[in-house]
Amino acid sequence: MSVNKKGLRSQKEKDLLINARKPIGELGMQLLERMNTNHKSVSLWGISHLKIEKNDVILDIGCGGGANVERFNKMTDNKVFGLDYSELAVEKSTKLNQAAIDEGRCEIIQESVSELPFEDNVFDIVTGFETVYFWPDFVNDAKEVRRVLKDDGIMLICNEAVPKENDERQKELIDLLQMELYSEDQFEQYLREAGFSDVICFSKEGPDSLDKELVTGWLYVIARK
Ligand SMILES: C[S@@+](CC[C@H](N)C(=O)[O-])C[C@H]1O[C@@H](n2cnc3c(N)ncnc32)[C@H](O)[C@@H]1O
Repeated sequence: MSVNKKGLRSQKEKDLLINARKPIGELGMQLLERMNTNHKSVSLWGISHLKIEKNDVILDIGCGGGANVERFNKMTDNKVFGLDYSELAVEKSTKLNQAAIDEGRCEIIQESVSELPFEDNVFDIVTGFETVYFWPDFVNDAKEVRRVLKDDGIMLICNEAVPKENDERQKELIDLLQMELYSEDQFEQYLREAGFSDVICFSKEGPDSLDKELVTGWLYVIARK
């Protein structure tokens, strides 16, 4: 996989990007707007690996600005839930999906992945786009996801970062955001530890959503309960 030669980020870029972990304030709102637009390609790529039925109940964890909740609302007649621990993300997702919320087809909830406010066996599909890097304890959080999935339910993880050696720009981002990047092997191991079966991981090169001059790693994981 190629390593980008571009230099490190300016302080201005870092001040914006720090909000990827938990958007707050003016810059947090700016980043949520940008993520809704710029994450479209990688999100659609991830979603294309799901078989979504009209009656599926879907939860999107770390929903950010709510663009994927909006997409799922168009793909299923059943209720779609978005969840994020950032108050600002919940505000933005709510605004974007207000019509569906008013029709009782959508709910946006402020909570952490570690304590999902749902009964066992509720969802057909649970998704996480660009968010698992920030989950506090991946194996336990994946167990929590598994708990709320129906038997045979599917978890989709979609990232645009895979661990690369000798990539200073990536190291800068990891340090800035205190994020964990997992390899395909780690996902497979951790998801099996969390009790999932049929874990499929796939990665390829793709354009970086924030800087199209750069190449990054796109990765999706599908795990069945
Ligand atoms: C990089 S953004 C991605 C947002 C959106 N999924 C997208 O692809 O555009 C990461 C999101 O995950 C949320 N997040 C991080 N850790 C979380 C946790 N422990 N529980 C719930 N949400 C979390 C953040 O607040 C943020 O909105």
